[in-house]
Amino acid sequence: PLKAFIFDLDGVITESAEYHYLAWKALAEELDISFTREFNEELKGISRMDSLDKILTRGGRMNDFTQEEKDSLATKKNEHYRTFIKKITPDDVLPGIEPLLAEIRSRGLKIGLASVSKNAADVMNSLRLTEEFDVIVDAATISKSKPDPEIFLTAARLLNVAPSECIGVEDAAAGVTSIKGAGMFAVGVGSAETLAEADLIYANTSLLSYEEILAEFEKRT
Ligand code: G6P
Ligand code: MG
Repeated sequence: PLKAFIFDLDGVITESAEYHYLAWKALAEELDISFTREFNEELKGISRMDSLDKILTRGGRMNDFTQEEKDSLATKKNEHYRTFIKKITPDDVLPGIEPLLAEIRSRGLKIGLASVSKNAADVMNSLRLTEEFDVIVDAATISKSKPDPEIFLTAARLLNVAPSECIGVEDAAAGVTSIKGAGMFAVGVGSAETLAEADLIYANTSLLSYEEILAEFEKRT
């Protein structure tokens, strides 16, 4: 039986994925590395340092910086990102998310968050959603970034449910891979092309339907 939903944060609960995109794009362009939305898809769900490495590799500049310089590039991106998230309010919860959380809660199911972002706690507080979640697993709790299944497995363990009893919700290809690697049912939010591995895909959060997700979950498990 279904016992829990585990959500990604950036790009699922709120539009902060766009802020990561803008902040990385500014940094990449400063380094004369081209940055496209298509390439940005490869960064979604990936930790800060792994994202920087991917950008430097793309620009053929992997060996141009010392570790210390890389740390300061990552800090610069994060400071830029934080100027965006400072403005987040409860009005920035994406459409469809609050009704879905309420529905999940009314069925007596558990709710978890699985985000590799070190800013996840701040974003959740700004959205005033922290109390709505039974567990929040972020960068502080895990050692491996998505696409590794560790983060979704950790959330399930802390919720005291089996992975097969969980539904994971993600906007990133790496995130869907993490959910499937954990042995969970995956709901993707975004393009069917990028999220092909998901069990069920919605173009955006306003289309999420508890009844439909439940029906698909019961069909496939
Ligand atoms: C999430 C986002 C990524 C971001 C990562 C690290 O996974 O999808 O775009 O790079 O978190 O975020 P942080 O806030 O720690 O830099
Ligand atoms: Mg995301």
